[in-house]
Formats: sequence, structure tokens, C-alpha cells
Amino acid sequence: MSKQAIIIDCDPGQDDAINLLLAMSSPDEIDILGITAVAGNVPLARTERNARLMCDIAGRSDIPVYAGCARPMVRDLVTAEKVHGRTGIDGVEITEPVLPLQEQNAVDFIVDTLRAADDETITLVPTGPLTNIATAITKAPDILPKVKEIVLMGGAMRESGNHSPSAEFNILVDPQAADIVFKCGRPITQMGLDVSHQVLSTRERIDRIKKIDNQAAQATVGMLDFFNRHDTKKYNYVGAPLHDPCTVAYLLRPDIFEGKLCNVSIETQSELTMGNTAVDFWHVTDRPRNTNWIHAVDADAFYELLTSHLARFDK
Ligand code: BDR
Ligand code: CA
Repeated sequence: MSKQAIIIDCDPGQDDAINLLLAMSSPDEIDILGITAVAGNVPLARTERNARLMCDIAGRSDIPVYAGCARPMVRDLVTAEKVHGRTGIDGVEITEPVLPLQEQNAVDFIVDTLRAADDETITLVPTGPLTNIATAITKAPDILPKVKEIVLMGGAMRESGNHSPSAEFNILVDPQAADIVFKCGRPITQMGLDVSHQVLSTRERIDRIKKIDNQAAQATVGMLDFFNRHDTKKYNYVGAPLHDPCTVAYLLRPDIFEGKLCNVSIETQSELTMGNTAVDFWHVTDRPRNTNWIHAVDADAFYELLTSHLARFDK
């Protein structure tokens, strides 16, 4: 596999944080050009801090972290402390990160980095509301040819919604941004709730990670334990769905996922179904097939990948 150049755009969040650790455990496969933070699960000041803390834990002071948009494009910010705790990454000991925040705004970093790249060379990996990405596209549409692919977490079809009856959190927080991204014309691979609800962090899976004697693995266990408390009650599942790591797992092992090329369109008008992702799974319209809609995953292989990669970190 040739090394993939990526920008991770995120709102950590325990699952974003674990996704960062998975990506940072894979320097031979993935070149992280930068991590850009956006407001979402918690306000921006916490998401950027949490991203830097993960770089500290991973020993990756070589990765620059940028702060981007503090609120959605049109709507008011909605956060999810109920799910993630006050810090966004409850379950981990919070200290002031050693890695400094970059001065440049995340949106400008995305624009400048893409402008300097060759065509179709950079993969964007958004795991939060799509505000930073859509703002960059709106500000500099000339960056689009540089994007190889957008591999994102958001949306739902069969699993309907987790933050409203018809919408998934990331899309619901900034539907206008999602609408811009899904209409941008670049290839999209989408990890929605239909697939993330298949990768459940069961006790047995967490216990396997617990045996790994390094800080990244122990931080992951703390975060998964916290995540489980809320989600097992909400869904009555045997473990919490591990949403965001589906994105980097896909970059590392696309063969363990199953997808179908479909049109996905975003509801931006109706208050009742705001942020709904209308997935044309059976091709009943002639709308462009803009998205590789992922609908199945080998969950055991997913956790095997996560566990073996976390074991790569030094003590
Ligand atoms: C998504 O919403 C957030 O709470 C998680 O970090 C994930 O990105 C799941 O709906
Ligand atoms: Ca997220």
C-alpha cells in the first residue's frame, strides 16, 4: 500500500480521539499532514486541546494541530457533553498539552495545503461537523481537484438518527456544510451509523486492549469505558458503537468494509428531518452517485486492527 497523505478534521470526542491514535500508530501507511479541529462534540477550545493531547499521548509532536470554525455555517452550535462528558474525552486524565496550537486557522491550512499539492493526492478525513471543510471549499473552490477522496463519518440510513429521530449528530450540527460537501463533486466514502453500529466495543474487546502496556492503549480503554456507560444504556447494545475510527480503519483495510455507490443528499429545510441523509440505496432516482455508502464491516477484523495498531506505540 502506498502511503496516503491525509488531513484529519475532527471534534474530539472519545471516538475522534481513538481515531487519531489509530492514524498516528500508522506512520508507514498514513502521512498526517495536519489535524484540524472544529466545534462539535464540545466547543472548539476543547476539541483543539483534546487533539493536541492525543498527539502528546502518541508521541507525535511532528503533527501540527490547527483550530478552525467555532460554530456552524448557519445554525447555532449544538454540543454533546451528554455523550462525551464535559471535557469531550472523559475517561482520560486531562492535562495542558505540550504540543502548541498552530497560529494559522484550520481553514487556511486546508486551503494552503491543498493548493500546494498535486491533483488528487490528499484525502480529507472529517469525523465531526463539516464546517471547516465546507468553509474551505466555499472560500477556495480551486482546491477541489487536489482532493483525492473524502472519507467521512456522518449520516445514517437504516439506523435513522442518534441526535434527532432522523439525523446523525455530525450532519445535524451543520447540515448546510454537509450539503456543500456532498455536492462538491469529489469522491466521498461515507461511514454512517449503519456501519458504526456494527463495531461495538464489547467488554472482551476492551479487555484485549487493556493488556497492552502503553499510554495510548490505556487512554483508549479509559475512553471506551466512559463511552460505554452512556451508549449501552441508550441503545441497549453490548458495547458502544465506535463511529469515527471506521474512517481510518477504512484507509488501512478497505477490504473489511462493504459499500455501494449511491446518491446521498442532505435535508437542509425541514425542521422535522433537518440533517437527514437521503441515501438512494436502490437507485430509484437519477441523481449523481456521489457517495460510496458503507453498509457492512467485519467487526472482529476492525477490532483486531485497532488492537494490533495500538500495540505499536512505545511504553
Ligand atoms: C458522531 O457524533 C459524535 O458524537 C461522534 O464523535 C461521531 O463523530 C456519531 O454520530
Ligand atoms: Ca466526531
